[in-house]
Amino acid sequence: MKPAAATDLAPAAATVALPRHVAIIMDGNGRWAKKRHLPRLAGHKMGVEAVRKVTRAGRAMGIEAMTLYAFSSENWRRPEEEVGDLMGLLRHFIRSDLDELVRENVRLRVIGDYRRFSPDLVAMIDDATGRTSANTGPLLAIALNYGSQAELAGVAQELARRVRDGAMAIEDIDTQAIENLLDTHDLPPLDLLIRTSGEQRLSNFLLWQAAYAELLFVDTLWPDFDAETLSQAIAAFGRRQRRFGGL
Ligand code: IPE
Ligand code: IPE
Ligand code: MG
Repeated sequence: MKPAAATDLAPAAATVALPRHVAIIMDGNGRWAKKRHLPRLAGHKMGVEAVRKVTRAGRAMGIEAMTLYAFSSENWRRPEEEVGDLMGLLRHFIRSDLDELVRENVRLRVIGDYRRFSPDLVAMIDDATGRTSANTGPLLAIALNYGSQAELAGVAQELARRVRDGAMAIEDIDTQAIENLLDTHDLPPLDLLIRTSGEQRLSNFLLWQAAYAELLFVDTLWPDFDAETLSQAIAAFGRRQRRFGGL
């Protein structure tokens, strides 16, 4: 066993269980707008504001990694106008917030098949992640055109290819081999998965990664989620007893 690091002995470590990796299904923008008789776009705009507040708060609290579900592989089913609005907000967010992320030492990641987006947006995303690639601080992963089932199908294809090409034996396909090929391969294990807006489903988000994550469903609509709600979620996580199958 490795000797305990000095921080392991600090009294605070025993009382404050901070999740290393928090993922959020940011849901409820449309309902937030509807309650105010505003167009859905107004809710999405406030949703971007919430992303700013919550990612800043997460960094201040020392959370190592946050993964935010921004566009699912099923969200293409929405009216073209709304899909266009969401893409527009993503462009705007990159333009307005990238400098801050670079400055704050954030390592930006994208999970999902974002290469299906329009070429200019793909270029913007690649440029944005590239500009934070030398950073060493907190990880911020945005899920774009992400679907967990497609992610796992992609892993299966890659493993089959390797076996076919003789680069790998069938017996070497274990959980670690699968993990290594997931979009989340360089993120810490998922500790806490939050869904806002009262819905209690995963909607094809991080199905594999959530195997032992603590799940938290809150009624707050995403545009109303802020630093205080995040603290409450972290506190709720701290009260959970995780067993991982043991006693
Ligand atoms: C979440 O809010 C944002 C995205 C899925 C992009 P919704 O747009 O799903 O809001 P509701 O669920 O209709 O309230
Ligand atoms: C999940 O929300 C996807 C994101 C938050 C990006 P949805 O609003 O799309 O999920 P469903 O359709 O209610 O399951
Ligand atoms: Mg929704």
